[in-house]
Amino acid sequence: MRALTWVGPVGRKDALTQTTEGLVALTGVRKSFGDHVVLDDINLTIRRGEAIVVAGPSGSGKSTMLRCVNGLETIDGGSITVDGQRIDTAGGGLSVLRREIGMVFQSFNLFPHMTVERNVMLAPVKVRGLAEADARTRAHELLGRVGIPEKARDYPADLSGGQQQRVAIARALAMDPKLMLFDEPTSALDPEVIREVLDVMRDLARSGMTMVVVTHEMGFAREVCDRLVFIDGGRIVEEAPPEEFFNAAKSDRAREFVDKIIHH
Ligand SMILES: Nc1ncnc2c1ncn2[C@@H]1O[C@H](COP(=O)(O)OP(=O)(O)OP(=O)(O)O)[C@@H](O)[C@H]1O
Ligand SMILES: [Mg+2]
Repeated sequence: MRALTWVGPVGRKDALTQTTEGLVALTGVRKSFGDHVVLDDINLTIRRGEAIVVAGPSGSGKSTMLRCVNGLETIDGGSITVDGQRIDTAGGGLSVLRREIGMVFQSFNLFPHMTVERNVMLAPVKVRGLAEADARTRAHELLGRVGIPEKARDYPADLSGGQQQRVAIARALAMDPKLMLFDEPTSALDPEVIREVLDVMRDLARSGMTMVVVTHEMGFAREVCDRLVFIDGGRIVEEAPPEEFFNAAKSDRAREFVDKIIHH
C-alpha cells in the first residue's frame, strides 16, 4: 500500500524491493520454556522491503519470536531462514548473519561512557574492520538520517529518550542490516518524543528496509505497515493488511483486541 501512496526523495520502493521473494521464513517454529509452549507452530514469510507489525497481548510470544529470528534464542522445532540461510542451526552462519540483522529494544542499551558517534562507529570498526575515518563519516551520515546530526559528540545521558533511541537505530543501521527488528521501541519513551522515533521508523520502512516491529502503536501500524500479524498464545491468529485487520478482523480474538485498542 505505501508503495502506491508515497512518492518522495527520502526513500523509494522500486521493483527490486517489491519482489515476492521471502527474505525471512519461519516454518513450523516451536519454542518452549520448560513445559510452557511459547511459540506453537509459527509460519510466517516476510518479503524483501516489507514492514510487518506484530501485535498481541502480553506474554503471547512476540519478543520470543523476534529473539528467535535474531538467533538470541534457540528453537525446539521447525526452521528459520533469513536470506536463504538457516539461522536456527549451530555453526558459522549465525554469527555472520546476526551482523546483518539490526535489533532495537525498548531499552536503548547505548554505551554510557562513549559519545554518540563512538556508539555508532563501534561495531563497524570492531566487527567489520572499517577504518575509523570511514566509520565516523558513516556515523555522521546516519545521525543526520535519524535527525540528530548535532549530537555526535554528546554522551547518551545528555540526550532525551527519543534521541537515545534514534542513536540506537543509527547504531543498528551502521552495520547495513538486511533486516531490522524492533521490540517495543517506543514503550519506554515519554509521549512527547514517541512521534520522532516513529517518524524515523516510517522513513526507514519507506526507504525499503525489511522490518518487523513489535509495537502497541496502532496508528503507526495503520499508517506504515504492509501487514499486521496478530499473535495470541504463541500462535499467529490472524495476519492481514492493517485496514483489513482494523475494519474486518476475521477472528474473535483479533476483533476483541482491536475493540480494546480503539476504546481504551
Ligand atoms: N527466558 C525465559 N524463560 C522462561 N520463560 C520465558 C522466558 N522468556 C519468555 N518467557 C515466557 O514466554 C512467554 C512469552 O514471552 P514474550 O516475552 O515472548 O511475550 P511478549 O508477547 O513479548 O509479551 P510482552 O507484550 O509483555 O512483551 C511469557 O509467558 C514469558 O513469561
Ligand atoms: Mg515483549
